[in-house]
Amino acid sequence: MTIIVTGGAGFIGSNFVFHMLDKHPDYRIVCLDKLTYAGNLSTLKSVMDNPNFRFVKADICDRDAVFALFEEEKPDIVVNFAAESHVDRSIEDPGIFLKTNILGTQTLMDACRKYGIQRYHQVSTDEVYGDLPLDRPDLFFTEETPIHTSSPYSSSKAGADLLVLAYHRTFGLPVTISRCSNNYGPYHFPEKLIPLMIANALNDKPLPVYGKGENVRDWLYVEDHCKAIDLIIHNGRVGEVYNIGGHNEMANIDIVKIICKELNKPESLITYVADRKGHDMRYAIDPTKIHNELGWLPETKFADGIKKTIQWYLDNKEWWEEIISGEYQAYYDKMYSNK
Ligand code: NAD
Ligand code: TYD
Repeated sequence: MTIIVTGGAGFIGSNFVFHMLDKHPDYRIVCLDKLTYAGNLSTLKSVMDNPNFRFVKADICDRDAVFALFEEEKPDIVVNFAAESHVDRSIEDPGIFLKTNILGTQTLMDACRKYGIQRYHQVSTDEVYGDLPLDRPDLFFTEETPIHTSSPYSSSKAGADLLVLAYHRTFGLPVTISRCSNNYGPYHFPEKLIPLMIANALNDKPLPVYGKGENVRDWLYVEDHCKAIDLIIHNGRVGEVYNIGGHNEMANIDIVKIICKELNKPESLITYVADRKGHDMRYAIDPTKIHNELGWLPETKFADGIKKTIQWYLDNKEWWEEIISGEYQAYYDKMYSNK
């Protein structure tokens, strides 16, 4: 079995590569990644010498490179993690989001059509459903919830999802889609909430909370997401969408306070800054379908997962310190100086 994993040098993709090499030692895993600012080859250091692993630097929008790789590898399965993934960056510059997230998805599926595939899996997000109000805790996103996006990021992901379903219906491509809630864990790029707060707290820097910090996200430990995708690509029904989430809703401010407590840092570091434009209030996944059909349940409780994650950032300072010392610093100054 050969699996092409796109975006495997990023946060979730790299965790998926590790999971698959560990759980399926007879599989060949080929990682295709453009190594944008969010992709780090150092993340994949531990598997580079694994004979079942291959890394290929390429853009999923580059038709020649993608088709050449398919010609060479004849993959059985493609799992597409490659994306521009940060809402704040999509507000600054939507164009690259439409290109990578929609046209890149098209390119991969065109290659799947040409070379044949057992399964094309699209890694999507709960953000395609828009948001839920804070005062309706009874409401959750199901797979039937209408697409209703807020940001250029979520719109680009939704556009890709629709295209994936269209390739299934029109061309019979054997696809599945997963829509997961917010992930956290090792190798999370330090511009996202949890790693940013850990890194800033460790450096005694202000902890910038958007608006009042009351926005709710449904956090899932990254390994649980990887296990869910592993189940879907093997046992999920073709043409279906599966929501993934662990019923772990938390307000941003509570997450930041937990990080302060775990690191023994004062809450006085918390700084309320200007809110994100179009900021989604609440995400909450109903994971009944994947539980009933595939037996998936999250295994890591937030209380344990956040401790493991903080410990990982303490043990792997060189990984994130290198990132925040480079061009990321220019991004940080630009994004947070006027907030
Ligand atoms: P990430 O930004 O950490 O990683 C993205 C990876 O894709 C990077 O390695 C980058 O180099 C690569 N990439 C970007 N553009 C590319 C291109 N044109 N060609 C090839 N590679 C390219 O993202 P992540 O947080 O790991 O998210 C992975 C996927 O999961 C995304 O599709 C995202 O929409 C989805 N998702 C993320 C979350 C989350 O909480 N992070 C939740 C649900 C879904
Ligand atoms: P983020 O990690 O960017 O994920 P997403 O926007 O995809 O949910 O943000 C998570 C939440 O944290 C979101 O409500 C925005 C908020 N946030 C802050 O309050 N401060 C920050 O510096 C960042 C990056 C995010």
